[in-house]
Amino acid sequence: MRARNSYEQKLMRQSGLIASKALKAALGKVKLGATGFEVDKIVEKEIYAQGGDLSYKTVPGYKYATCITVNEGVVHGIPTDRKFVDGDLVSIDLAVMYKGWHTDCAWSVLVSGQETENKEQLEKTKFLKIGEAALWDGIVQAVDGNRVGDISAAIQARIEGAGYSVVRSLVGHGVGRSLHEDPKIPGFGAKGKGVGLESGMTLAIEVIFTSGSPELVLGSDRWTYYTADRSWGGLFEMTVIVGKGKAEVLTDWRKV
Ligand code: MF3
Ligand code: CO
Repeated sequence: MRARNSYEQKLMRQSGLIASKALKAALGKVKLGATGFEVDKIVEKEIYAQGGDLSYKTVPGYKYATCITVNEGVVHGIPTDRKFVDGDLVSIDLAVMYKGWHTDCAWSVLVSGQETENKEQLEKTKFLKIGEAALWDGIVQAVDGNRVGDISAAIQARIEGAGYSVVRSLVGHGVGRSLHEDPKIPGFGAKGKGVGLESGMTLAIEVIFTSGSPELVLGSDRWTYYTADRSWGGLFEMTVIVGKGKAEVLTDWRKV
């Protein structure tokens, strides 16, 4: 990928702002009794209201605004009308296209209805905390002069350090003119290896991880990937612009 010029970066920022607001709205809707389908509709509305388009519509055969997975679901889940229940671990993945520029982001949360969490919920909370930390560890490495492997190794160290696994069959990616561009950004790899990073490159850094084995199986809907051992799946993803000394995060929903 070539670096984006300042005009292109401006459009990417606008696309990212739409994605951030949509993700924030989606996460606010992940509550007891709500459904993935409802969350998807909110995201669609939010993206259109801000003048954006659904990036996932550029994927042949896919017609939703989001991918939503629960518990042992890991990625590419089709939104359904199943109601969220107490203790569900829900991942929302969405992408926006704005004036032809794509941004991609995902976040995982726990559905909690009780005041005191049980043991499984506490373990899920820890699982999510580590996944988020791995994402920020990876983003810190997205600086001019580093290599893709620096991002990958940072993510892998945090996930495996906590006893979890990084999925091997799916990876982060360049993003911008299309949803998926070069280079691939695995969540596993060796420091100092891989494609060199340059200011202005736009990357979707993804932490795709499980609480057990990294092996995945494809569900009967032919979209959703589940963990083969039925352990939990988690997903944290942000689109960033590589910078000198610091990456600029375009999809930080916590700041909008
Ligand atoms: N958001 C996914 C990614 O991070 C892509 C989902 S494509 C879809 O690369 F068609 F399944 F929506
Ligand atoms: Co992605």
